[in-house]
Amino acid sequence: MKSIRSVQDLENKTVFLRVDWNVPLKNGVITDDIRIRATLPTINYLQSKNCKIIIGTHLGRPEGEIIHSLSTKILAKKLSEIHPGKIIATDYVLETQVKNQIKRLKSKQILVLGNLRWYPEEEANNTAFARILASYADVYVNDAFAVSHRAHASVEAISHFLPSYAGLLLEREVEMLSTLTENPRQPFVIILGGAKIKDKIGMIKRFANIADKILVGGAIANTLRYFKGENVSESLYEPGLEHIAENIFEILKDKLVLPIDNKKKIAPDGKFSILDIGPETIKKFSQIISTAKTIFWNGNMGYSESKEFEIGTAEIADAVKSNPYTKIVAGGDTVGFLDSHKMLECFTFVSTGGGAALEFLAGIQLPGLEVLGYYDKRKIRN
Ligand code: 3PG
Repeated sequence: MKSIRSVQDLENKTVFLRVDWNVPLKNGVITDDIRIRATLPTINYLQSKNCKIIIGTHLGRPEGEIIHSLSTKILAKKLSEIHPGKIIATDYVLETQVKNQIKRLKSKQILVLGNLRWYPEEEANNTAFARILASYADVYVNDAFAVSHRAHASVEAISHFLPSYAGLLLEREVEMLSTLTENPRQPFVIILGGAKIKDKIGMIKRFANIADKILVGGAIANTLRYFKGENVSESLYEPGLEHIAENIFEILKDKLVLPIDNKKKIAPDGKFSILDIGPETIKKFSQIISTAKTIFWNGNMGYSESKEFEIGTAEIADAVKSNPYTKIVAGGDTVGFLDSHKMLECFTFVSTGGGAALEFLAGIQLPGLEVLGYYDKRKIRN
């Protein structure tokens, strides 16, 4: 894969830097800025080469509409709080104002463009749109691993019009996530949680032969237990996925470890919702985690937004923390939880990817990596 570190004549160039600053927001406030902080090494690198930097990102899913609560100005402001130097913010992407701002941009200065997804052309991978973005710069750098599974204009099409390279974060993501498929130290334990089993089936299939144990909590455990014939009452689960559930039981066999008890919210009529794993499950999962020499974690064990039901996730986090070997975590909710509990430092690597990390691990070719030559001559181990 072509890296910015391999560019000989980067000095003083204008760079279009695609980042994924699609951060979580609550009442207009950024609740977790990891995705912004993770791109600082690339920004610093470009500034050390006296580049002018045009940053493009999306925020949320405005689907081609101008939704002011999803303005990138909040992201530019956050950047200015954590990074020195001149940062200019605009809500525009195509308009003449942008062209004038770029003309005035000086070496090391940063211009943060408007939300790329306010323009339907972005998600349509529109060539004309990509050509305009490309016209702003001399070089394109993708540091947006988290959106590299989308063939969008600022991820895919733009690379056809500019010399294109991987940023430092993108490189590190690929390098670290690859350690999970390329001879990970055994025992290799995967911890999965969260809500959507469909998003995880690809990686489960790929890791069925690579991992030693797959511990499953969260709503995806409810789905599996429902299809095993257990009563999950009012709990969150995904109906209509019999074939996926059957497939998982079949390929994982005794590698699959489901919760043996739960923490529930019980209504007066006896109906209940499973909202966390129980103490016996915590013990069982923790014991397995203590034996691991490689751990990959994606998805919380319960409804961790609530203090009452965050215990499972917190205890599993403790168990992972106590393990001295390789620990990799991915997925916004889990990373956000660990960050708010100041536990990220103990991880070998914290991926900024959610869906992108799962697709990468499933062995699906990501369009954003493909255009940077990542898959050239590379064989994916299935
Ligand atoms: C993410 O948060 O996973 C990425 O920013 C991609 O967002 P999307 O799922 O809306 O394409």
